[in-house]
Amino acid sequence: MTAAIPKAELHVHLEGTASPDLVRRLADRHGRTLPADLFDGSGAFHWRDFLHFLEVYDLASSVIRTSEDYRDVTYDYLSRCAAENVVYVELMSSPDHALAAGMSYQGHLDGIAQGIEDARAAFGIEGFIVVTCVRHFGVERAHAVADAVLRHPHPLVVGFGMGGDEAGYRPGQFAGVFAKLHEAGLKCTVHAGEFDGPEAIREALETLPVERLGHGVRAIEDAGLVAELAAREIVLELCPTSNIATGLYADYGAHPWPALKAAGCRVTLSSDDPPYFDTSVGAEYDHAARHFGLDRDELRDITRVSIEAGFAPAATRQAILARAGF
Ligand code: ADE
Ligand code: ZN
Repeated sequence: MTAAIPKAELHVHLEGTASPDLVRRLADRHGRTLPADLFDGSGAFHWRDFLHFLEVYDLASSVIRTSEDYRDVTYDYLSRCAAENVVYVELMSSPDHALAAGMSYQGHLDGIAQGIEDARAAFGIEGFIVVTCVRHFGVERAHAVADAVLRHPHPLVVGFGMGGDEAGYRPGQFAGVFAKLHEAGLKCTVHAGEFDGPEAIREALETLPVERLGHGVRAIEDAGLVAELAAREIVLELCPTSNIATGLYADYGAHPWPALKAAGCRVTLSSDDPPYFDTSVGAEYDHAARHFGLDRDELRDITRVSIEAGFAPAATRQAILARAGF
């Protein structure tokens, strides 16, 4: 339905792109046995709710153990994106997951960069890296990730972000982490207002140098905040299918994407953790067409906004826009 439309994605967790099939192959590569209940009867990842999802995600990610594995996960995802006419992807990397699997920051970065370069050579798709810390691993770990980023600058690392469980960790606790990366020239985004409410978004905007928000959907509960997001041109990395899968909204009809757009917010479409939520960038565009009533020009406009709000260098973004016909 939307196959011919050029697409872009700002919000996807690299470890969260690995399909059950790839996770099984990587487990075999390393002679590891995965617990049978990691998968359901149809072979999909099996999880019950958001916190269980984070556990299953950590377990599945633990089979990504070498630079070659990271290269393969990256290349596999970007090749699937290219098949859906996706021209630009920002991948969130997680040095904490790499470390838990026994890898250095540099080792995992080298693998991801190789996957991006191989995919660019094969398909012309452009990928960049937004390094993330995990909120519920705590402030000290977040500083350690930030320090690794500062010690190993890389042209494909263009941004910094933070995912994980919002409960119990306020954005302001991470102000020092974000400040030093921002000072070093990285652009910043943060998951906020996914499970926590509008006050978490307000705190993120007040304490962190972010120009985008991961999700941010719960801003819809505070009209004043929605107006502020629109006025400040904060880009919302919206992931409708993810929010429905994790139980935030009952269905697409209940999702605030159209209301945020109507209120003047800069909204985009992303898949978040595609095999866990049975989605893809193309599927998100299809759902937006079907459920939010977006026509071809409006879908193209999402791609334009996404590339313009991307963290890649300006000249690169201009070149991608031109190549995609904008
Ligand atoms: N890590 C992977 N997926 C995530 C999500 N949807 N929210 C927060 N952290 C995540
Ligand atoms: Zn996310």
